[in-house]
Amino acid sequence: TNRLHATIADINFEGILANASGVHCQTKEELAELLASPYVATAVTKSSTKEVRTGNPKPSYYEFEQGSINSMGLPNNGFDYYLDYVSQDHSQKPVILSVASLSMTEGIELLKRVQDSDFQGITEFNLSCPNVVGKPQVAYDFETTHQILTEVFKFFKKPLGVKLPPYFDFAHFDQMADILNQFPLSHINSVNSIGNGLYVDVETEASVIKPKKGFGGLGGAMILPTALANVRAFRERLNPDIKIIGTGGVTSGEEVFAHILCGADLVSVGTELQRQGIGLFEKLQHELLMIMNEKGYQSIDEFKGQLKTM
Ligand code: DOR
Repeated sequence: TNRLHATIADINFEGILANASGVHCQTKEELAELLASPYVATAVTKSSTKEVRTGNPKPSYYEFEQGSINSMGLPNNGFDYYLDYVSQDHSQKPVILSVASLSMTEGIELLKRVQDSDFQGITEFNLSCPNVVGKPQVAYDFETTHQILTEVFKFFKKPLGVKLPPYFDFAHFDQMADILNQFPLSHINSVNSIGNGLYVDVETEASVIKPKKGFGGLGGAMILPTALANVRAFRERLNPDIKIIGTGGVTSGEEVFAHILCGADLVSVGTELQRQGIGLFEKLQHELLMIMNEKGYQSIDEFKGQLKTM
């Protein structure tokens, strides 16, 4: 059916669900498992760096009732590994190549290699990793973000989106949207984890992950309102040809519906995918279609971005 579909940079997606980068996407086997699910529209690779990285010391991930905290530190098999995977044929299902940016020169070097490769799909530039010690989240620095994108679009001609951190102020939504609207971006992906939260276990009187004395990115159910605010705020501000991948706080079809109502074209799932595994996607699609049936919607086009306000 085409009740659930999306288009980003003229690439068609059958279905609207994806993994959030970082979850179930570090190996080719995990990526293949995602693509094999009929309920998954696309798979996003783990954000890659020039060199292979083992990531931060463990434990670097912890789940609690309301969500998760992570300080993985970009463990990945290296850029070449993922470029090789996305360059293979995946029987018509699009794949999204996520590229990290440990430094401006490295990010630009990797994107040049994407530009020079045979890969014709969508690349997503991660400007929002909160977990590498000494490397602030790029997209909280508006000037640097503008500068990087200016350099990148001098040579990059393929579909390119950016993964953004959550913003919490209208001045920041305005400023970032003004910057993004200056470039031919395929999409934004909002949001990355809420950076540098601290989960405290009262019984042990301790933090729960090892890196950065327990500070890490928050994900899962508790970040839903922040994720929806970012999707909505950017949908209201960005050029209509910049599409939105909504990420954050999805645990059931209801939150998928809410993301679409706020303007998401695709919806991706991290913490709950980590918790439940790939079977989650069938449940999410089933629940979304049930809600649409009850409301009498044939296609997501009938309610996408149509949030009512008072
Ligand atoms: O929460 C996150 N964790 N966001 C990222 O962008 C990277 C990841 C990690 O590897 O630390």
